[in-house]
Order: sequence, then C-alpha cells, then structure tokens
Amino acid sequence: MGYKAQFRVWRGADDAGELVDYVVEVNEGEVVLDIIHRLQATQAPDLAVRWNCKAGKCGSCSAEINGMPRLLCMTRMSTFAEDEVITVTPMRTFPVIRDLVTDVSFNYTKAREVQSFTPPADLKPGEYRMQQVDVERSQEFRKCIECFLCQNTCHVIRDHEENKEAFSGPRFLMRVAELEMHPLDTADRRDVAQDEHGLGMCNITKCCTEVCPEHIKITDNALIPMKERVAGRRYDPVVWLGNKLFKR
Ligand code: SF4
Ligand code: F3S
Ligand code: FES
Repeated sequence: MGYKAQFRVWRGADDAGELVDYVVEVNEGEVVLDIIHRLQATQAPDLAVRWNCKAGKCGSCSAEINGMPRLLCMTRMSTFAEDEVITVTPMRTFPVIRDLVTDVSFNYTKAREVQSFTPPADLKPGEYRMQQVDVERSQEFRKCIECFLCQNTCHVIRDHEENKEAFSGPRFLMRVAELEMHPLDTADRRDVAQDEHGLGMCNITKCCTEVCPEHIKITDNALIPMKERVAGRRYDPVVWLGNKLFKR
C-alpha cells in the first residue's frame, strides 16, 4: 500500500544551502534511496546523491537520516511512521560538494598514511603460512565496505576540524590493528599507532561500532586490543629495558 511521505532534504553546498521540503510517493518494501531516486525522477532532477550498488556493499550512499549516520540503500522506509518527517542530510564530518554528496578525500589521505603489509623480505609469494585462528581474527576487519560512517560519527573529528591532522579515525586505526595482529607483518606499528595515527585520542566511546553497517566490533576487537599492545610496550618495564638495550 503506497502513501505520501514528507521528506526534508539538504540542498546546496556547505556555505550556501538549506533544507527543502518535498512530498514523495512511497511503495511497499522501499528503502530511503528509492525515495531519493523518485524525488530525482519527478521533482528535483538536479539533486546530487552518490550511490552504486543499492545492496549495502559499495559504501557510497552514506548520509544522515534524522541525524543518524546510515546507508540510504539499507534503511527501510518501514523504519519510520508514515506521518513522520524524514530529514536527509549529508555526512557532517566531511565538506559538502553538493546536496547529499560529500568530499571524503580525508579518508584516502589517511589510508595512504598507513604503511602497507610488510612481510619478511626473504619470504616468497606462495610461502606464506598462517594459522586459521590468525586468518579468522582479521577476517572481521576485512568486511569493511569503506562507507566511512564510523569516521563521520567519531566525536574526535566530528565538529573538530582541528583534530583531523592528528587522528586517522576508527576505520584506519582498525587497519593498523589488523596489520599489527598479522603474524607475517614485520613492521612494529605500536608507536606509530599512538604517535602518528592518534590512537590515544580515542576514548573508546564506541559510537563508531554502533553505526557500522557491517557490524564490525571496531572498538572491542581492534581499537582496545591495539591500545593494550601500545600500553604493554610503554609501561612494561622489562619491555622498556629490552627496547633500550637492543634498540628495536
Ligand atoms: Fe563503514 Fe564499518 Fe568500514 Fe567504518 S568499519 S568504514 S562503518 S564498514
Ligand atoms: Fe571514536 Fe570509536 Fe574511539 S567513536 S573515540 S574511534 S571508540
Ligand atoms: Fe552501495 Fe548503498 S548504494 S552501499
């Protein structure tokens, strides 16, 4: 059974924009992205929205719906009451290019700052051997679709432009943790995590984990274990003495 929904959508750029009201038809089983597409087709042909797969797999359609960071294609209209005003705005942590499309290049910069997988130099492709338990540990992190909703949500950079330089955000701290846990990775990532990626700025509020559409336990399985490894390095006197003596 169809009905008419009230939508309020951000139109314009960062410095010059406003929320515009629309009334749009909704059919059974639709998601918010369907309604945005209908809006484009019938009333606002110039409305900018980024999307690709419509299956929760490409990570393109991230936005905020009634202030909650979500994927437009995975948010069912049945989540909302028929008479509810549904407000759709772009992700707040990144600059708006136009309408619902943000410039997420901050994330690409942070990705490039993570040292890539560094196996032992004498190990040839095909000689890699790992225990199944080590494979499984990182498998969860590999589910990331790079939607950047966690990056958008983390209070360390949301509304704190000044922290962006020093903080890589949950997605990339998770990547550092994944590599640190990898048995074949020879890079020591503990000091780098703390000093260059800003691990210490994370105060484990877990907001990142709450919004992850892949339900990755970013805080419990990546950030907290990484913090423990850093703390083990810095505060264990035996480790500290060992580092001094052998200058690792
Ligand atoms: Fe998105 Fe989750 Fe990956 Fe963050 S960790 S970018 S929320 S899929
Ligand atoms: Fe931010 Fe997640 Fe830490 S929301 S403060 S990175 S636990
Ligand atoms: Fe690909 Fe939504 S369109 S995740």
